[in-house]
Amino acid sequence: MDDRKTIIIVDDSIANLKIGKNALMSLYNVFTVLSAKKMFELLERNKPALILLDVDMPDMDGYEAIKLLKENPDTLKIPVIFLTGKNEIEDEMKGLTLGAIDYISKPFSPFILRKRVEMHILVNSQQRVLEEQRKELQKFNNNLQNLVAEKTKTVVELQNAVLRTMSDIVDRRDDVTGSHIERVQAYLKILVDGLMERKLYEDITKDWDVDLLLLSSQLHDIGKIGISDSVLQKKDALNEEEFEIMKRHTTIGVEVIKKIEARSSACDFLEYAAVFAGTHHERWDGSGYPKGLSGENIPLLGRLLAIADVYDAITSKRPYKKALTHDKAVKLIAAGKGTHFAPDLVDLFEEVVDKFAAVQNEFVVAFALSGGGGGLP
Ligand SMILES: [Fe+2]
Ligand SMILES: [Fe+2]
Repeated sequence: MDDRKTIIIVDDSIANLKIGKNALMSLYNVFTVLSAKKMFELLERNKPALILLDVDMPDMDGYEAIKLLKENPDTLKIPVIFLTGKNEIEDEMKGLTLGAIDYISKPFSPFILRKRVEMHILVNSQQRVLEEQRKELQKFNNNLQNLVAEKTKTVVELQNAVLRTMSDIVDRRDDVTGSHIERVQAYLKILVDGLMERKLYEDITKDWDVDLLLLSSQLHDIGKIGISDSVLQKKDALNEEEFEIMKRHTTIGVEVIKKIEARSSACDFLEYAAVFAGTHHERWDGSGYPKGLSGENIPLLGRLLAIADVYDAITSKRPYKKALTHDKAVKLIAAGKGTHFAPDLVDLFEEVVDKFAAVQNEFVVAFALSGGGGGLP
């Protein structure tokens, strides 16, 4: 069988079929049929590259036939040219509206017929190539997207593992603080959610990756790995000199995080962690450490974490102090409004204190159930 393309000519006039066939048979396999019904029978066995369709035919006319062709997914894409004696512009428009790609009036020149058919077959095959390429590209894109999603998942898992492990290191050494890291993260979440719900600082929060930010807060005390056991695990309150040493956990934390960041561009996610580590002990009035930043010079993340961190310190038992109640913590934080803490964030804190109490209570219960005793209030 040759690889020439097939064309079906449908016309109720044998003379017209002959003229058409003679014009095209040197280039194509030409099937001629005398009715639309015969065409549909033929289509069950042959898939032509193009159909030349007469309009006026008994039983089923060309308009009816093209409607059926376009309704069937198998024949929908076969290009149809109307070949007809109807010359009115309305006829032509109707044919084209129904999905014909061209309209050739009878009588036609065999040369013109051949050229138009050739052109349409060429255009159609190019369209199909483009369509195939588009599908391939779509497939490629989908694969690429899946690959990126998979890689992203791996990177996020790795990030979480790194964060978790680093914060575990601190928790293990600084066992006096118990689940301090986890609780602070929970309190910070309450504040961040409150901020978002109230649309406060939208210009800053719009760029936040909140999940990553909360995970990163676990590293706020990572600098404690650089503080000696004698200070870190001291059973009494720290003296002035020891307190100066303890203060260094902020700058050591930033250094540790920056070192990791410098070693791999994949560690950009530690950016939040460095801000938390370096600024969570700054105070609104400038009396904090390590830099003595004040007001809005303290990054918003540091201002938020200060409240979460201090609330937990107050409500937790430490070797040198008892755990105070939630109500006492609320009072102390309110008293620090404008001196220790940002005034607007204390307002926010006061609006969400019930959520703080709930989280605090949850941890107390968990601690008691784990056999931790009644150390917490
Ligand atoms: Fe700290
Ligand atoms: Fe802390």
